[in-house]
Amino acid sequence: MDDRSRLLNQTAALAADFLHGLPSRPVCASATRDELLAALGGPLPARGEAPGEVVADLASAADPGIVASAGPRYFGFVIGGGLPSALAADWLTSAWDQNGFAYVMSPAAAVVEEIATGWLLEAFGLPADASVGFTTGVTMASFAGLAAGRHRILERTGWNVEEEGLAGAPEIAVVSGAEAHATIYASLQMLGLGKSRVLRVDADDQGRMRPDAIRATLARVRDRPVLVCAQAGNVNTGAFDPLTEIVAAVRELPNAWLHVDGAFGLWAAAAPSLRHLVAGVDGADSWSTDGHKWLNVPYDSGIAIVRDPEAHRTAMSHGAAYYVPGAGMERDGGSLVGESSRRARGFTIYAALRELGREGLADLIERCCRLATRMADGLRDAPGVAILNDVVLNQVLVRLAPPDGADTAAPDADIDAFTREVIAAVQADGTCWLGGTTWHGMAAMRISVSNWSTTEADADLSVAAIRRCRDEVAKR
Ligand SMILES: Cc1ncc(COP(=O)(O)O)c(C=O)c1O
Repeated sequence: MDDRSRLLNQTAALAADFLHGLPSRPVCASATRDELLAALGGPLPARGEAPGEVVADLASAADPGIVASAGPRYFGFVIGGGLPSALAADWLTSAWDQNGFAYVMSPAAAVVEEIATGWLLEAFGLPADASVGFTTGVTMASFAGLAAGRHRILERTGWNVEEEGLAGAPEIAVVSGAEAHATIYASLQMLGLGKSRVLRVDADDQGRMRPDAIRATLARVRDRPVLVCAQAGNVNTGAFDPLTEIVAAVRELPNAWLHVDGAFGLWAAAAPSLRHLVAGVDGADSWSTDGHKWLNVPYDSGIAIVRDPEAHRTAMSHGAAYYVPGAGMERDGGSLVGESSRRARGFTIYAALRELGREGLADLIERCCRLATRMADGLRDAPGVAILNDVVLNQVLVRLAPPDGADTAAPDADIDAFTREVIAAVQADGTCWLGGTTWHGMAAMRISVSNWSTTEADADLSVAAIRRCRDEVAKR
């Protein structure tokens, strides 16, 4: 066996050991920043080292700083894990080292993206001729969708934003829900559309845009080019904007574009029992979602979908003399993401979708939602616990009051402090990991179930750990 094969086998063994230990290791990291710096740092070595030693040292020194976020009891943020085939395809993607920019650089990468495009559109029930760009994440997918919208609504006024920029352009009105994700504003900021000038539509207690409020807001701007940002799956509650009503209201405007941020919520479209939550979503103009959260593809994997491929391509592509037109150019992935060189991200999505199939995908999404409900039910009857949201998807918001606490579901500084203490205790305990948030002025614990390997036993073990930590903090 040659040295490189030995190194890759050694690395595969290290990875397999890690994955084998994933369900049983503490979910939190065990090392501090200083400890990690001491173990991994030092001056840039003057002389190179043997690859096998570099990798072995990296694996052992980084290990205490590795969070078991790929494992079954990580409920922080919305993270997901790595399906076996997607992880393996990710390794191959690195070994092949293809540049995903152009068909000519990698026909296989381009064709696999083309196939994954068709499968994704079918799974989401979106128009079969929409274009799909494979980005780093939802932030850049929203950027691509909104850039396509910015192009089209300005083009209808006779303005070429790609050539002329925004200075002197007709003023675009941007509308979002009051509970839009922070990354929508990041995309708008990068597109020169600003954050503070966005018209934010009132939301209800679950974070959904109120249909009467969206109509009232759109009526104020109907004579302008309008970009509307709706959401499928609120990061705190999992709630969905009323998409059918929003589509109808937007379609009454003469020049508007509707983007839906469906980072994780769009996957509800792939599950028969949850599809009703995204009713109307196919009436939008662009959508952002990703593979790295709920499809359980290793990071990173964003997905930008646009109904109008010409607007998508015009907004995201650039030219150069050495990009010589050739066969397969229509599948040049680089022209859909605004990046030049990039990872060939289609392989992992392709592998994950083949491993799951339509039924496995639906099962993954539905199972996570059932487990979220199970965790909510397991916590609901504990003393001083309130579940703040309607658990419609995979997200649960939990608020915990001290023994003598007042109404758990009402704003109160002592309850906020107690909730945060319990979150910190659960994080330190290591059985599971979840984070905190503030929902309608109240501190809350966020549980997000999005990993393919999470079982009922993991959910129950985690509920028991949360209840135990709550009791311990109450005794302090
Ligand atoms: C609704 C929503 N939009 C956007 C994002 C950002 O996604 P990414 O981190 O892939 O950019 C998230 C992340 O959780 C999200 O929940």
